[in-house]
Amino acid sequence: MNERLGKTVLHVEGLSKVYGEGPTRLEALKPTTFDAVAGEVVAILGPSGSGKSTLLTIAGLINPPTAGSLTLNGKLAIKDGQPVANLSTLRRQELGYVFQRSNLIPFLNGEENVRLALEIDGVSTREARERARTLLDSLGMSGRMTAMPAKLSGGEQQRVAIARAMIHQPSVVLADEPTAALDSSRGRQVMELFRDSAHEHGAAVLVVTHDHRTLDLVDRVLEMEDGVLAEQDVAARTT
Ligand SMILES: Nc1ncnc2c1ncn2[C@@H]1O[C@H](COP(=O)(O)OP(=O)(O)O)[C@@H](O)[C@H]1O
Ligand SMILES: [Mg+2]
Repeated sequence: MNERLGKTVLHVEGLSKVYGEGPTRLEALKPTTFDAVAGEVVAILGPSGSGKSTLLTIAGLINPPTAGSLTLNGKLAIKDGQPVANLSTLRRQELGYVFQRSNLIPFLNGEENVRLALEIDGVSTREARERARTLLDSLGMSGRMTAMPAKLSGGEQQRVAIARAMIHQPSVVLADEPTAALDSSRGRQVMELFRDSAHEHGAAVLVVTHDHRTLDLVDRVLEMEDGVLAEQDVAARTT
């Protein structure tokens, strides 16, 4: 059990994003307010171009919003569209990212890819190795830790990427179409890993997905359309 479970770790209020100006002006994210709590997996659905990646990159502090505020694990990061904290520190401490392609460092093996995230933060190699192995083990990668990324299957690469995103126990994990390159059974396994790790490590996981068949594994479904995010009712989820 993680002490963070149930705590609001992401609070977004009136967050919006406008790209361009004049005739090219596009309000990709309309003012949006929502919370996510540690331990839950929130799926974000919606057609291409609806603003899902915009929302995720803003929540991940890698894309500045036009307006609004954002609080991560109780720390106010952005207020009235402006940074009010050291964003790179918050990124390192509070956030984990998983992308469509695993983006592993090709010349480091799986364990080294995961370990690096800790060593950058000053954790000793010995401790980092221990923690990386334990986590990879729990993700079903015990026999594959020292394989180079090129030797791993797509599903295995995403497991390493999930371990890398979670090794520093972030409060929020953002995953943008992490199962898009996987077949449906691998995709389902990855969603199961998110569910289990969200609970075990006390993180809120926001995952953009197109696969309706895995929605039984998530706690909440948000639907994005034309920059508007709406909570989808649970009963409608399986249809
Ligand atoms: N950097 C950018 N500059 C201008 N327009 C952008 C930029 N990024 C995304 N957009 C536009 O914003 C809208 C939402 O994009 P995006 O957030 O990537 O949607 P999704 O992830 O749901 O496909 C799209 O119309 C897209 O073309
Ligand atoms: Mg996208």
